[in-house]
Amino acid sequence: MGINTDLLHGYPVIDSHTGASSIPKYQASTFNSPALGTNRDYMYTRFGNPTIDALQDGLAKIADARFSFVFSSGMAAIANALMLLNAGDQVIFPIEVYGGTGAFATKILPKYGIDVVFTAYDQLANIEQALTPKTKMIYVETPSNPLLKVTDMQPIVTLAKAHDILTVADNTFMTPLYQKPLALGCDIVIESLTKFINGHSDVVAGAVLTNNQAIAEELSLFQKEFGSILGVEDAWLVLRGMKTMGLRMQQSKHNAQRIATFLQAHPKIKQVYFPGLPDHPNHDVHMRQAENGGAVLSFEIADADKARLNTFIDALQLPIFAVSLGGVGSILSHPATMSHACLTAKERAAQGVTDSLLRLSCGIEDTEDLIADLTQALAKI
Ligand SMILES: Cc1ncc(COP(=O)(O)O)c(C=O)c1O
Repeated sequence: MGINTDLLHGYPVIDSHTGASSIPKYQASTFNSPALGTNRDYMYTRFGNPTIDALQDGLAKIADARFSFVFSSGMAAIANALMLLNAGDQVIFPIEVYGGTGAFATKILPKYGIDVVFTAYDQLANIEQALTPKTKMIYVETPSNPLLKVTDMQPIVTLAKAHDILTVADNTFMTPLYQKPLALGCDIVIESLTKFINGHSDVVAGAVLTNNQAIAEELSLFQKEFGSILGVEDAWLVLRGMKTMGLRMQQSKHNAQRIATFLQAHPKIKQVYFPGLPDHPNHDVHMRQAENGGAVLSFEIADADKARLNTFIDALQLPIFAVSLGGVGSILSHPATMSHACLTAKERAAQGVTDSLLRLSCGIEDTEDLIADLTQALAKI
């Protein structure tokens, strides 16, 4: 079956109790037990709920995963996955890892006796050099935020397997539709459902996916005992959003490819960062492990001082100016003052996050309208 069919029919989408065409919101914390010592399939929503299960089944289907666990945010999903580490372990992260993950790694993991190392993933040798006998996890995020740097997952997986190390991939930017890290040999995949999977900028949610039974058993325990489960209403909203994800992503990625090409040719644009462009430094690697360039791009305006940037941002009519990505409406962000504001200017400079860098998450608007909007805003500066 094709992905659009799978999104609608590839998992139990009809309510088995009532035949309802949309899995209902089982908005209940507890479930009546029929008699002493007997339980129905469900007992208490923190342990399991039919609406949450339906979402987990749907995510497992589209990610080709055996096991799927949803959480109250992408960060909760990441935190639960990192809690698979034990005291005395070491974990390796890319320098450009998502800020929340970086903060969890530096501020929380060391409290539990877990060593954290950050290195540049552009050379496999950097990761090899960071390995110690204590290394138990290599964490990957590709493409990176906001410069869309691509990490080749295959050699990392090979290295990790040779040393009995888990590979974890945050796949939020590409989504399971366009990149499948489990199929490339990664052990665990993180998805922030807040972004393209829900797709409507109205829910915060996350998921961890794996094919490994032992890992799944531990995650199942964490889901119950850390208790950061996804609420029923939000699970239902993500289920609903997911049904149209194939079509949404198709338009969003089409917009990104067209806009990246348009911006690259524009005289007022200094640089475009988008792995779907043939001259992206790792275009070939990206296209080997993903279906297309995705729907997020970044760009720098030439000679952009604060006033010019403000003029451009003010002039844009369509994208909202906000953090986050993956909504049906386009979202423009300024990483230096938004996602990367907690870094020092020096740290931002080391990563290449300049003050003139803007990130655009392409929504599903008509391509020509987005290009016309960018054209008129660029004309004003
Ligand atoms: C790549 C990536 N991973 C994880 C997260 C965290 O997800 P959430 O905001 O749903 O907690 C984000 C949020 O922006 C992200 O961009």
